[in-house]
Amino acid sequence: MGVDLRTRLAHVELPNPILTASGCAGSGRELAQFFDVSKIGAIVTKSVMLAPRAGRPTPRMAETPGGMLNSIGLQGPGIDAFLQRDLPWLLSRGARAVVSIAAGTARDYAELAARLSDASGVTAVEVNISCPNVEDRGQVFACDPAAASAVVEGVRGSLRYDVPVFVKLSPDVTDIVAIAGACVDAGADGLSMINTLLGMAIDTQTMRPVLAGVTGGLSGPAIRPIAVRCIWQVHEAYPEVPIIGMGGVRTGRDAFELILAGASMVSVGTTIFHDPSACVRILRELEEELASRGIERLGDAIGVAHEPRRMPGRRLSGNVQ
Ligand code: DHB
Repeated sequence: MGVDLRTRLAHVELPNPILTASGCAGSGRELAQFFDVSKIGAIVTKSVMLAPRAGRPTPRMAETPGGMLNSIGLQGPGIDAFLQRDLPWLLSRGARAVVSIAAGTARDYAELAARLSDASGVTAVEVNISCPNVEDRGQVFACDPAAASAVVEGVRGSLRYDVPVFVKLSPDVTDIVAIAGACVDAGADGLSMINTLLGMAIDTQTMRPVLAGVTGGLSGPAIRPIAVRCIWQVHEAYPEVPIIGMGGVRTGRDAFELILAGASMVSVGTTIFHDPSACVRILRELEEELASRGIERLGDAIGVAHEPRRMPGRRLSGNVQ
């Protein structure tokens, strides 16, 4: 087939556009028994915070029609253990590591960025400002342009070398383009879209919330049209800003849809839970989707859905659309 799948994570080139989605593959170790983790574009790690954290009480996950709810609560080892143990493991396997960070204050985000600057081998930072499972909705920085901007400025200011900064946005806002613009103006190199939507399920037998944390983030195929819409709107407004697209991708065709909307990379998340080798399968399927349409370079497909439609049999001048 020989499709050129290379893509750009801002100024860093990746061999192909398929990434794991943060939170769905830990730090990549779990996936290594299913496929060679160096073969996909990058591993995006579970959001790491400054301190180790136990997360929310169980149950933390619930199946929903076409998706699932999670209420993990940012469980993790903390940045020190991550840098000592998880990052070196990924690098030893030849994987590219996109490190997701989360914090409760702009100052802590900046501190995390400074700590990552001291480590070598970080391909990019994904700043998770949209975790839905925090105690205080005021900590969902992605819901407010000024708060989002303050976090991005702090991260950018603390990074001592030019590692790409991607900011993960929430679809739970009225105007995602306004939030995207605030992040870009504050120094983001790219955007990751979309995080989970805030949802909830009630057990009709017990008549109580299913999740111990009551609410949770909705992911899976049910949210893919929302991801397509968000990516479309932001690419329309900022066509030069690279986007890591995610939200319910199960097949190469789903990934292709996000690429047509404007994503230059696609993260695969929820589907990993029942198909741990989904990333390599989706990569193969995406290549087939492109090849079958005679598209020789991935870059030629990014954002194509925004172009005026060419009606069969009509000339391009004048009567397009
Ligand atoms: C968690 C859930 C998310 O959807 C997310 O983006 C980050 C963290 C969590 O609960 O740990």
